[in-house]
Amino acid sequence: MRGTADILPDAARTWEWMERRIRDLFRRFHYGEIRTPAFEPTDLFRRSIGEGTDIVNKEMYTFPDRKGRSITLRPEGTAGVVRALIQHRLLEPNVVSKYFYLGPMFRYERPQAGRQRQFHQAGIEIVGSNRPEADVEAVALLRAFFLELGLGEVRFRVNTTGGRAFRPELNRILKQRLAPVKEALCTDCRERFSRNVLRIYDCKVPRCRDEIARLPGIRDLLPESDRDHFESVLRGLERLGISFEIDDRLVRGLDYYTRTIFEAYSDSLGACDALAGGGRYDALFEEMGAGREVPAVGFAVGMERVLQALSGADKLPAFPGPDAFMIRAGAVDCFDVLETADRLRRLGFSVASDLLGKSVKGQFRLADRLGARFALIRGERETESGAYRIKDLQTGEEEQVSETGLAARLGEKLGKRRVSP
Ligand code: HAM
Repeated sequence: MRGTADILPDAARTWEWMERRIRDLFRRFHYGEIRTPAFEPTDLFRRSIGEGTDIVNKEMYTFPDRKGRSITLRPEGTAGVVRALIQHRLLEPNVVSKYFYLGPMFRYERPQAGRQRQFHQAGIEIVGSNRPEADVEAVALLRAFFLELGLGEVRFRVNTTGGRAFRPELNRILKQRLAPVKEALCTDCRERFSRNVLRIYDCKVPRCRDEIARLPGIRDLLPESDRDHFESVLRGLERLGISFEIDDRLVRGLDYYTRTIFEAYSDSLGACDALAGGGRYDALFEEMGAGREVPAVGFAVGMERVLQALSGADKLPAFPGPDAFMIRAGAVDCFDVLETADRLRRLGFSVASDLLGKSVKGQFRLADRLGARFALIRGERETESGAYRIKDLQTGEEEQVSETGLAARLGEKLGKRRVSP
């Protein structure tokens, strides 16, 4: 289906590698995994992401279930995490909890390179701290994420849109500035003017861009407390050696953000799409029914885009073939060979074999195609003497070993110590 992709075994190996590295990194930063459902009541996303957003207005997969309840395939992960933490009463005062998630998300967008209708995000949420350290840890983790996968340093764009308390005033100021030119704005922006004026900063239409260029940077309109928080975040980023660019016109496509927002870009991605985005959302928990303010900050990375950037930078890992390929030469019982393969696999070796009764030549060809490191050859003579010939498929060297010594010798040759006696 348009906008979806099958991940076939070769690619799945890369996904598995990415996921393993990422999980390992998240654990090092001490985040616990949270798995929330792929669908939720539509209302959850409307209320959290915001009625006036493109995601809610144009991109959600929404349908009635068999009892007529409106269901939506999750377009992002934050809303579900917030719902789950409130539902399971996991919000303790003065306790910070840190979560990560990996999984498919769904947005009805026009598919193109790096933009799918089912895509995958890896994300984190730091819940319970309003301090700039939390914002800085989020960005530091995001930088570590790209370093861990070998993508190197990425570009960060950061901004602040101020706290929720100031938002009505910010909207008022922006409306006042834009009112005289409102009729010159595009249709979408005229709609944004009444629904969510801050989003006008994100318009790509040239005549709107001209007006945006005449607006002050968002930061300049904010009260001192918000500017101080942002200054501290910037100081933290500098201290950790994270290079960033302040984009005082950056806004994000989801309404729940307050104060710090950020996006990550890579030169290897080609288009100007973000690899990741995130920010602070201090008001969301309370708005979703937590009963009090629970400050939080997080981000999500688009995994397909990371793959694309890795491939663009020629940084995709190459995976080795199997350690060994079993070769049955002549009138040898196929189960004899399969039994040895089974034993080696249980000891931790990766072993491939032919299941089609191919000729010796055909088996070698297959071993070659799979990139096997060694061939383990069992002919009639070897069967009689209870032995195997180990052939190095890179050098062509061969040696004979007894069946009982096979695992130990193979382990030595591979330079691995995986063999128990
Ligand atoms: P977002 O910016 O909407 O933020 O999405 C994060 C990332 O998901 C994007 O930077 C992009 O890499 C990827 N992405 C989004 N849409 C698509 C698509 N159609 N195809 C492929 N990749 C896509 C969020 O989702 C927030 N929940 C992040 C967050 C977590 N904020 C706080 N905590």
